[in-house]
Amino acid sequence: MNRLQFLKYSLLAYPAISAFASKASLPDKAPEDAVTDEAYWNLVRSQFALTDEITFLNNGTIGVSPFQVIDAMYQKTIAVNTHAIYGGGDHEAIASLARFTGADPEEICFTHNVTEGNNLVAQGLPLKKGDEVIMTTHEHVGGALPWLNRMRHDGIIIRVIPLGATAAETLTRVEEAITKKTRVLAVPHIPCTTGQVLPAKEISSLARSKGIYSFFDGAHGPGMLNMNLHDMGCDFYSSCCHKWMLGPKGTGFLYVRKDKLEEIKPIMIGAYSDTGWDMLSHPPTLSGYAPTAHRFYYGTQSAELYAGIEASVQFHESIGKQLVEDRVKLLSGYLRNKLQALGDGVELVTPAEDVSRGAVTAFRLKNMTMQKFQELAGKERFIIRTVGENNVNCIRISTHIYTLFPEIDRFVEFVSRCV
Ligand SMILES: Cc1ncc(COP(=O)(O)O)c(C=O)c1O
Repeated sequence: MNRLQFLKYSLLAYPAISAFASKASLPDKAPEDAVTDEAYWNLVRSQFALTDEITFLNNGTIGVSPFQVIDAMYQKTIAVNTHAIYGGGDHEAIASLARFTGADPEEICFTHNVTEGNNLVAQGLPLKKGDEVIMTTHEHVGGALPWLNRMRHDGIIIRVIPLGATAAETLTRVEEAITKKTRVLAVPHIPCTTGQVLPAKEISSLARSKGIYSFFDGAHGPGMLNMNLHDMGCDFYSSCCHKWMLGPKGTGFLYVRKDKLEEIKPIMIGAYSDTGWDMLSHPPTLSGYAPTAHRFYYGTQSAELYAGIEASVQFHESIGKQLVEDRVKLLSGYLRNKLQALGDGVELVTPAEDVSRGAVTAFRLKNMTMQKFQELAGKERFIIRTVGENNVNCIRISTHIYTLFPEIDRFVEFVSRCV
């Protein structure tokens, strides 16, 4: 098949993809004062395939990708399968993630999701029977299980603390739970339950001052907040690209602070994890591990997904990390105020304090169970999440940059009928 025939066949085979190319794209830089420029946010929304048949308010579970990301994966899929490209460690995507999160490329390793990064740390740290790890009553199953597993395997002790209503109160609770045996503070940056933003910088510096490891389950940080891992100062941070970053599904990353690299035992290794191995010497040898976080991932990887990660970082950067944070906080603040105006029948669960709020708003209804609410919401095509974890029992609403004010208004009108 010559090149012309190839193009003809690929366009015929993928008409929907070629249609993406005709969409008006975002300007390289957002306009001044874009946070309240609805024309700009309508243009942002037009970058997504989201159907008007649903009102999608559950980005906290899974994000949708803009056409730019879908297209990058599509283009790479064609390239991979045209030129038989092998998808070993992709340094471009690692560099993008490092730039996006304020880390060095050597400190970032790919994972498939948040849970995988949580496991790498929970299983890899040098902990022994009786060592204590501080966690919270707001863990996701993917946050809790890796540490509970280590408890089963090695007899570590997990101390569970409730969160405070403010950042200062949470910090105090963490500090009060520390004992002589505490080895790790393993808490969510932003829990899946209420979306409360924890004071990660203060928790990291508290841990450092006591010689304790700081680890964050960071499922909801990147792509929601304008965060910088070096500034935060934590030792380890596990995240994903498939929620707020709006990247490919089944992709994530783990940040391992440079000076803590040697402290995590690499449990699983393979091609690219090592500095040399020899099965013919007597005895066979493994000379050591790669000098970067690359030691924690190995073997054949997906060049297509990595192209999608790079594109999702570019997409966010074309809007701007601070603008994304300002916009999502504007949306969640608007929703919060509207819910509050419905009166006593609505109990807001996410803290009001500005530093403790992000893009997630959680609430309860006095006169309706969350299960009933979800059932009714489903009938009206609102996609939401209820939170049964750890008996937090609330309704969780995520508003991301593609959410439009009329959608929030429609949702609040629906809530007003349930109060
Ligand atoms: C706080 C938190 N941790 C961990 C996870 C698990 O993420 P993943 O499915 O990427 O492993 C989630 C998913 O919603 C989450 O919200």
